[in-house]
Amino acid sequence: MDFKIEIAKLIAAAADIPVEEVAVEVPANKAMGDFAFPCFRLAKVFRKAPPLIAQELAEKLEKPEFIEKLEIVGAYVNFFVRKGVYAKEVLTAVLQQKENYGKSDMGKGKTVVIDYSSPNIAKPFHVGHLRSTVIGNALYQIHRELGYHCEGVNHLGDWGTQFGKLIVAYKNWGSREAVERDGIQELMRIYVKFHDEAEAHPELGLEDEARLWFVKMQEGDEEALSLWKWFYDISIQEFERVYDMLGVKFDAYTGESFYNDKMDAVVAELQEKGLLQESEGAMIVDLEEENMPPCLIIRKDGGTLYATRDITAALYRKKTYDFDKCIYLTALDQNLHFAQWFEVIHKMGYDWYRDLIHVPFGLVSLDSGKLSTRHGNVVLMEDLLNQAIGETRKIIEEKNPDLQDKETVAKQVGIGAVIFNDLYNTRIKDVVFSWERMLNFDGETGPYVQYTHARACSILRRAGEVSLENIAYDALSDEASMDVCKLLEAFPEKIKDAAAKLEPSVVTRHLVAIAQAFNKFYHDNPILNSEPAVRQARLAIVVAVEIVLKEGLRLLGIHAPKQM
Ligand code: ARG
Repeated sequence: MDFKIEIAKLIAAAADIPVEEVAVEVPANKAMGDFAFPCFRLAKVFRKAPPLIAQELAEKLEKPEFIEKLEIVGAYVNFFVRKGVYAKEVLTAVLQQKENYGKSDMGKGKTVVIDYSSPNIAKPFHVGHLRSTVIGNALYQIHRELGYHCEGVNHLGDWGTQFGKLIVAYKNWGSREAVERDGIQELMRIYVKFHDEAEAHPELGLEDEARLWFVKMQEGDEEALSLWKWFYDISIQEFERVYDMLGVKFDAYTGESFYNDKMDAVVAELQEKGLLQESEGAMIVDLEEENMPPCLIIRKDGGTLYATRDITAALYRKKTYDFDKCIYLTALDQNLHFAQWFEVIHKMGYDWYRDLIHVPFGLVSLDSGKLSTRHGNVVLMEDLLNQAIGETRKIIEEKNPDLQDKETVAKQVGIGAVIFNDLYNTRIKDVVFSWERMLNFDGETGPYVQYTHARACSILRRAGEVSLENIAYDALSDEASMDVCKLLEAFPEKIKDAAAKLEPSVVTRHLVAIAQAFNKFYHDNPILNSEPAVRQARLAIVVAVEIVLKEGLRLLGIHAPKQM
């Protein structure tokens, strides 16, 4: 039931005017009621002073069950909704729809492509890619909840001159055994070695050699491609370990290499449309009118670029998925890159350039040197997640050593804490890692929300069989119960808001608010030991909160263990 609409209908009937002309408001001040109707606009129709109209209207109104009282304040008729009826409306919706509560079909028939994670292969998966991965995954789940068809794309950085360098490095300083044994670590070692050697001995021409190998890759040379494929497979294996830990999946692993044979046609199109210009031997699209540096399409040596592949990928995705929105998750420092090539798409005459959206985020920083680093100052994602699990294990040993299945819970809570921490603030803010803060069971954290969910589960376990028929909702008229109901009622709107703003933090913060309100409710109201009708009504809140917290966490990519 939509209270606002029901009230508008009542007023329309009493005043004998069309319901569309009745604008019901929600007063900012709770003391003015839950809803209010200002009578100023009716003054012209009735040729009376607005306060008088309010008075007469209030007398004529059929007061239905759900209205507890009416008050006239000046020209306003204020409506106070019966709390039990409100609680009933909200709770029956949650209890009936269960995990579907919050779902919508607003996105039906629409496709959203989400380009996220997208690490560069042959390089360790470091914490910088965490944000793209978890924000992208949350936006994927949130859009799906709203009925959109989503395509999650991992646009791997798996093409470019750096792989020519890696081949040269492997041929000079690598060995099959070492690469097989140490994987990406070894690839990284020889890659760094390449740079050191190339700098120290420019006379060796290593850079030129590397460019040659990349040209060979582009031309389909067998040896070049089989080495590249080997490095690729090793990288994917390592990445998938991390994705498994995070519970993240993709619909397509179409990285930059995928576009190797598709770029010629795009370059030809740019040429045909008169957009390509030569500049110092390279081919560019001039963006002076847009106040941006030119977008580089082909390098002097014939090599294509990051932007060339992004333009090609966008055209491919439009053709393949016919998306309504294509969103890209990267750090803020790629703003210019996206602005430039989006503009190239615009200049090509595609008005869907408006549907390309760069969703930037801030950096990750570490609050102290406590995070272990295996590699210079690069923090590996896997190490970070393992450390989170280890820290959580310690807390569990201390707080609940008899917990069943401790290892699974440590994983779900440790990794959940990392994800939640990342999604808690607006994405543009930098994320700081501090174990103490992230794992604080009383803070605004993942473990806090998970713990609240587990508490709800525990109450329900102790309650035994709970009937949800004929609930005495009037027992939920206290402020703490009402506050929980109001937050539950807002949950579906928050999901929509998060999608509209491409901002998972809207959901994250709402979950903290629900958890806090629920804990206050739990603190203020005895549940299991209260008299049967009250006990049942309060348990209905517990059931509803359990459902919504679990579903909300799922949208963020976080598990909700039943015990912790
Ligand atoms: N591989 C890039 C990086 O690590 C991110 C790619 C983002 N996606 C895109 N379509 N450009 O910085």
